[in-house]
Amino acid sequence: MQIKIEKIVYPGKSLSQTGGKIIFTDEGLPGELVEVEPVREKSNFIEAKTVDILSFSDKRIKPRCAHYKICSPYQYIDYDTQIKIKRTQLKEDFFAHQLKIELPDIIFRPSPKIWNYRNKISLNIIWENKTPHLAYNLPDSRTKFEKIEQCFLVSGNINLLLKRLLQAIKDSGPDFINKVTVKESSHNKSLLLTLYGAEPKELKDFSDSFTELTAQSPLAGAIYICKKKNQRLVLSGNYFIEEYVGKTRFLIGAESFFQTNIGMLDILMEDLIKSIALNKTTTVADLYCGVGTFGILLAKRVSEVIAVESSKENIHFLKKNLELNNITNFHIGKGDCGKLINSVLKSSPGILIIDPPRKGLDKNICRHILMKPPRAIAYISCNPATLTRDLKTLLSEYKLKNIFAYDFFPQTPHMETLVILEKK
Ligand SMILES: C[S@@+](CC[C@H](N)C(=O)[O-])C[C@H]1O[C@@H](n2cnc3c(N)ncnc32)[C@H](O)[C@@H]1O
Repeated sequence: MQIKIEKIVYPGKSLSQTGGKIIFTDEGLPGELVEVEPVREKSNFIEAKTVDILSFSDKRIKPRCAHYKICSPYQYIDYDTQIKIKRTQLKEDFFAHQLKIELPDIIFRPSPKIWNYRNKISLNIIWENKTPHLAYNLPDSRTKFEKIEQCFLVSGNINLLLKRLLQAIKDSGPDFINKVTVKESSHNKSLLLTLYGAEPKELKDFSDSFTELTAQSPLAGAIYICKKKNQRLVLSGNYFIEEYVGKTRFLIGAESFFQTNIGMLDILMEDLIKSIALNKTTTVADLYCGVGTFGILLAKRVSEVIAVESSKENIHFLKKNLELNNITNFHIGKGDCGKLINSVLKSSPGILIIDPPRKGLDKNICRHILMKPPRAIAYISCNPATLTRDLKTLLSEYKLKNIFAYDFFPQTPHMETLVILEKK
């Protein structure tokens, strides 16, 4: 079936309206004629996959990775066009369509690096003919995989470590490893290797493969995690890496959350600091604070920070990061933001920083904020759908002052948004 692509809609599907039907396919730029094969037919649309490009847009470029459709499906689009597509989606499909109010201009910040920008990768290790391979899960499948040779979104250092790891696993065991994560410090380029397996193990199970690997690579540390039995075995060095944002030092654990594009984070921090008036009398609340990124970066400018985080590992590193940076005006609420929001708001914070996971805020949190609204909110979001849903509620007490968007994830359809709200 041949279709002409009209536009690319979030998150990254190419849309066509042909023969009275809406068709979404996985590749195609506006104006291109493509050959597609239907995958699923619903009452009001068809899902398809593109099998041939019949006329080429001048915005089309050659993808670098063979597996790009799985993890970075915008690789075939030139970078300026990627930004235009994301900006249009954010403005038209989310802010204008959902909120129906007069909007400030969206300031869209491209990424300083568009390749090798990620400081973290997680991959499966699968076996074929007694040989281990790195692989991604196919979308929506836990059992089907696509093998990958290398990834251009992370550094050459990470790729080299993964290659050596595969060789070490092949040469001397440990065939029980089924997943690997590597994190890299943008500060000193050291690497944290985390191996995952289904069974608890002893250090000797790794000794042969590790002696060589640790000698060859700049490892800050390596650990083995067996989630089923709650085992964490330090194989070598530390169980964390060290990162800097500006002059502020952070320790980050194997499973701690940390922003994956540090160059982009620096730019977001500059915008955040310029957009909210902070001084030594301000109390800042940092909800979903992770290892303390935003709260710690602001702590020395304000009177105090009240932060909330639910993950034990993040709280462990948050405490270390406070110590490392000599921060004493910081209070930690351990637990669910939904449960702690009331006590946070009782401290009358002037600024609320909110950086929730993709599902956004629950209704209870919005309700509490509206009952005792701080003077400004900085809402950082990786999901424009839940962001605009939550804004619909919050805008009853707030006006939308600024919208910034950040391309934390070049070559992918994802984007990060920072919205500044001021109390009406
Ligand atoms: C998008 S991350 C942001 C982390 C941090 N602001 C940063 O930039 O590094 C979301 C964080 O919220 C935490 N989290 C998720 N659900 C939560 C909840 N219901 N209550 C408290 N924290 C939660 C996660 O553990 C994670 O650290």
